Amino acid sequence: MSDTADDAVLPEARPDLEAAADEVDRLTERILQLREEYYGGNASTASDEEYDAMARRLEQLEQQHPRLRRQDSPTQTVGGRAETTLFAPVEHAERMLSLDNVFSREELDAWAAKVERDAGRSTVRYLTELKIDGLAINLRYEHGALVTAATRGDGVVGEDVTQNVRTMGSIPDRLSGTGHPDLVEIRGEIFFPVAAFDDLNARQAAAGERVFANPRNAASGSLRQKEEGKSPERLELMRDRIRRLRMLVHGIGAWPVGEIERATPVGAQSEVYGLLAEWGLPISTHFRVYDSIGEVAEYIKRYGENRGGVEHQIDGVVVKVDDLDLHVELGATSRAPRWAIAFKYPPEEVHTKLENIVVSVGRTGRATPFAVMTPALVAGSTVRQATLHNQDIVKAKGVLIGDTVVLRKAGDVIPEVLGPVVELRDGTEREFVMPTECPECGTPLRPAKEGDADLRCPNARACPAQVRGRVEHIGSRGALDIEALGEVGAFALTQPAEPARPPLETEAGLFELALDDLLTIRVQVRDPETGLPRTVDGVPKLVAPYQKKNGEPSRAALDLLANLEKAKTQQLWRFLVGLSIRHVGPVAARALAGYFGSVDAMRAASRDELAAVPGVGPIIADALLAWFEVDWHQEILERWAAAGAQLATPGHPGPGAAVVEGGILSGITVVPTGALEGFSREGAVEAILAAGGKAGNSVSKKTDFVAAGPGAGSKLTKAEELGVPILDADGFRKLLEEGPDAVR
Ligand code: IVH
Repeated sequence: MSDTADDAVLPEARPDLEAAADEVDRLTERILQLREEYYGGNASTASDEEYDAMARRLEQLEQQHPRLRRQDSPTQTVGGRAETTLFAPVEHAERMLSLDNVFSREELDAWAAKVERDAGRSTVRYLTELKIDGLAINLRYEHGALVTAATRGDGVVGEDVTQNVRTMGSIPDRLSGTGHPDLVEIRGEIFFPVAAFDDLNARQAAAGERVFANPRNAASGSLRQKEEGKSPERLELMRDRIRRLRMLVHGIGAWPVGEIERATPVGAQSEVYGLLAEWGLPISTHFRVYDSIGEVAEYIKRYGENRGGVEHQIDGVVVKVDDLDLHVELGATSRAPRWAIAFKYPPEEVHTKLENIVVSVGRTGRATPFAVMTPALVAGSTVRQATLHNQDIVKAKGVLIGDTVVLRKAGDVIPEVLGPVVELRDGTEREFVMPTECPECGTPLRPAKEGDADLRCPNARACPAQVRGRVEHIGSRGALDIEALGEVGAFALTQPAEPARPPLETEAGLFELALDDLLTIRVQVRDPETGLPRTVDGVPKLVAPYQKKNGEPSRAALDLLANLEKAKTQQLWRFLVGLSIRHVGPVAARALAGYFGSVDAMRAASRDELAAVPGVGPIIADALLAWFEVDWHQEILERWAAAGAQLATPGHPGPGAAVVEGGILSGITVVPTGALEGFSREGAVEAILAAGGKAGNSVSKKTDFVAAGPGAGSKLTKAEELGVPILDADGFRKLLEEGPDAVR
């Protein structure tokens, strides 16, 4: 029997493969979602261990069944999605790789054994250093002068943060000494020193600015900020924060083969550090070189017991083969070098008091019990609260209100209550009882589906907690990025003390907000420490966040309205993220927007059509269909569109045609500049790409068109000099819709 021929006609049912395919889909989407939560700065819905376990399982399945690996598989990318950014992109001369992890002595030994086998040596020298929990940075020096400093981004293209890195003052603008290579990339981490962290948050709070969850967020939040548009006071505060950042360098990226070696004989990673120090770059004092993996293990143990004694947060130890010849011999995978490994520490643990268990309702309606604790310092930051997920987990952990509990930070980021210290009970502790009704709207709580441990408030449309959560989410950086609509704004618009009916009963009215709506809003002041409402002589203390004392609109009101107006022309995928559709984060939203070009086209699509879009899949397709079915969701779309929100990408040629090849602008380069009416800067770029064209950043003879709006400067002048055709916003729209011949 010719099995191949038979297979071609009648493929055998493969339940194992189908089950694996389902599992790959589920894991891929869940991991991508968790990455989005993490990079979007939101609280994660899984512990670090769960995340690691899922990532390992996915890798295992992909190895067993390579064809099940999805194009958007998180195992194929270094650090998650590229950040969406206001910063100019910088392409790294050499890709910024990541590190593979080990979690135990056995795994470390296995790695070393493989290194020694592959290197064909019985002894290898290992350089051992601390893994700095900071922000990866690439410094590009040309002829000894700092040219750019960039974040990692997606490993290939990062964000240009040169200005802020110069402000730090501790990174040399010029390398010391002479004989520097034409081009060299220096890699390292920027971090916020642990010792300065609490003081930073105190200053931030005093100035009415955001406080940071941990030093890592403080580093990233400080560095990824723009100077433009800041008042002198805020600018000074920002610069002050940046000046407190520190960097430690730990390697070289693009390396001019031969050039450095000619100038200085470096044959080992440890000698590279000597060279970097000679050039005036900050290197760590904590690295050591050992001849055996046993000594490496001792180093790991020593620092594991003394993590708090280091100036920066540590999430592990990096072990590198010292001999540079072996780096070349061992090489790298597409993700990480084979000559280095990260040993990840288990999260740090402390004891504190569980004062209460309170239930909060989030934007998706999930009612989550969380632990309110006596503030405790864990892994570098102060923790007061930790999620307890659901009543089953509270039970499983066996914690009682009043217990002393063990608290840790999973992955040094997410606080987690591990369990009670039973020996310390004195009999006053009491059991937690899960409420049967939503604490915010009184609707009976119920599981989303039978057997679910999580309880939800089913009043999605009107539950104030859910509306507030969704409105805040719409304004978040990963969605419509409406700076003036933060947590405080979302609260004021959905739950003011006055007027009795809030300006927003759902998000449908967001783009209809007018100045008069804002001026009437009063909110009750809360104590920043306890979160409790404040009263004066028993009377609630109210403030008008959108009105000055003289009755004029406040800056916040004007900013909010201006931000909302601008948000109307945001890219389509950002609107999709803002709609809080289950599973639709930036990755899926970009895929959907790119393929369909409009919300209407998505609504008209079948399940199969939706699921077939690369990066979407059946789970997201079902979530979309379910979302579109709800009448008040339709109302959101209708009212947003009627208020001028752009729920379609201008010039998009329609479903399926967004694939870049063969678009109407195929082979055409367009440089957008100035304020093109009806397009945000990103929107103009997206529209060019969606039509299959290239969006250029600078004008040259090869540029086919410059689309220029008011405020265009040097690019317009250059286009005039070179005779490149110039289009206004209308011409640009015509180009997108009808192609180049229509406007030539
Ligand atoms: S060496 C080819 N050394 O951790 C990559 N990385 O999780 C070589 N990191 O991408 C990196 N401390 O951004 C190295 N002492 C250290 C490090 C370190 C922190 C970061 C780095 C890397 C990430 C991997």
